[in-house]
Amino acid sequence: MNEGRERWTSRTSFIIASIGAAIGLGNVWRFPYMCYENGGGAFLIPYFVALFTAGIPLMIVEYGLGRKMQAGAPTAFAGVRKGTEWIGWLALMVVMLIFLFYPVIMAWCVDYVVYAFNLSWGTDAKVFFEQDFLQLSGSPGILGGIRWPIVIGLAVVWLAIYLSLFKGLKALSKIVFYTVITPWVILVIMVIRGLTLPGAIEGLKFYLTPNFAALLNPRVWLAAYGQIFFTLSLAMGTMIVYSSYLPKKSDITNNSFMVSLANCGTSFFAGFAVFSILGYLAQAMGVSVPQVTQSGFGLAFITYPTAIRLLPFIPAFFGILFFLLLLTLGIDSAFSQIEPFVAGFTDKWHFNKKLVLPVVCVCGFLIGIIFTTRGGYYWLDIIDYFASSYGLTFVGLLECIVIGYIYKAHKMREYVNEVSDFKIGKWWDVCIKIITPVILGISLILNIIALVRKGYGGYPTWATAVGVLITLGIIVISFVLMSIKAKAVHEEGAED
Ligand code: PHE
Repeated sequence: MNEGRERWTSRTSFIIASIGAAIGLGNVWRFPYMCYENGGGAFLIPYFVALFTAGIPLMIVEYGLGRKMQAGAPTAFAGVRKGTEWIGWLALMVVMLIFLFYPVIMAWCVDYVVYAFNLSWGTDAKVFFEQDFLQLSGSPGILGGIRWPIVIGLAVVWLAIYLSLFKGLKALSKIVFYTVITPWVILVIMVIRGLTLPGAIEGLKFYLTPNFAALLNPRVWLAAYGQIFFTLSLAMGTMIVYSSYLPKKSDITNNSFMVSLANCGTSFFAGFAVFSILGYLAQAMGVSVPQVTQSGFGLAFITYPTAIRLLPFIPAFFGILFFLLLLTLGIDSAFSQIEPFVAGFTDKWHFNKKLVLPVVCVCGFLIGIIFTTRGGYYWLDIIDYFASSYGLTFVGLLECIVIGYIYKAHKMREYVNEVSDFKIGKWWDVCIKIITPVILGISLILNIIALVRKGYGGYPTWATAVGVLITLGIIVISFVLMSIKAKAVHEEGAED
């Protein structure tokens, strides 16, 4: 089937590319903060439960589906049953929303690498980030003009993405090797630097001390499952398309375990770099650790720069390193967001990839400019919320239903077992048919209730309504894309 399809140069390059896709900005700022917010060390228990009951099982689904169907998400779903093709498109629409804003965060990192040379953020990193750098307009209703430094950063990032992808998988196989190893080397340096600072131990206590009462809180469990999906890049078509480039007879189970464990191990390790420095900052400021951290982006662009400025020895060097760390972490995740999207179109209509890729990159850049405006930050936050909380959960839920009940879990398990180094048992069917969809379903319902009750993030109702409309819009577009006839190819081995 599909002999002409591009292939990874080796199993290692597939694994490295998948690890690169999974490890991203989410590992360095999102994971540590989630951990803190949800009971410190106790979060690790639901986190690992989620990894084994949903993360790895779904990774096996996506690798199995991509490898079996030898196609990106839409065509792979169409191969299971015609009418489910829209789910694949929906995954690509969600990943599209993500790749519109993800490079913008990387653009901030590009700018911050430059600022780090002379620690431009000065004594008040918060004022610098919000007022000098983003120049926040105060409301999503006021876009307030473009911030050119961010646009320039964005152009750099998109150019890097384009150059890395246009030569195809062979070049990508080599590039990901550097974009996975480099952040790891930087992480090791940052962990050593962090752990040797006074106060580090307080930060680690804050990171690791368990609070078992938190285990009784359903929110903590939902947060853990959400984090696992985001961090493993599941339900976005990424892992499906990556495995579709695997040659026949490639293992699935072992690869799934390796990629998932490498990703989660990196998150755990990154926590040491982040929290040791926060402990140091807390001591320097004479406050407790919870008082120094800011959630989400604040951690990376406010709290961390504040701490770096106080370092006793070559702070600028560590500042540059930190933002290079984020950039190198993000870049291979960004490739992995574009690739499935492009493959979705080329698989169905056999467009020339060399033409689709630049069009996607230019459009991604142009639309991304919205997020570089003075009100763009709010939109970034809104789109992130809708894509990550609803898009991802909904697609994940549908994937479980399609594979568990339509394709039949046991059939997929038998297929996977045939080609894999080691076999998975019936526990996997239970995860895919019951545990994962139930958790995702509850999570979706709770999120919807919270949205109806309180809106999101204190934004005006109309702004939340735009988010809802975009979410509904991408569902409609998915059906439209499904209904457009595929281009038939007469070569032997083509699908559809
Ligand atoms: N998993 C990546 C991270 O943790 C994010 C990502 C999203 C990657 C979507 C690929 C696709 O940052």
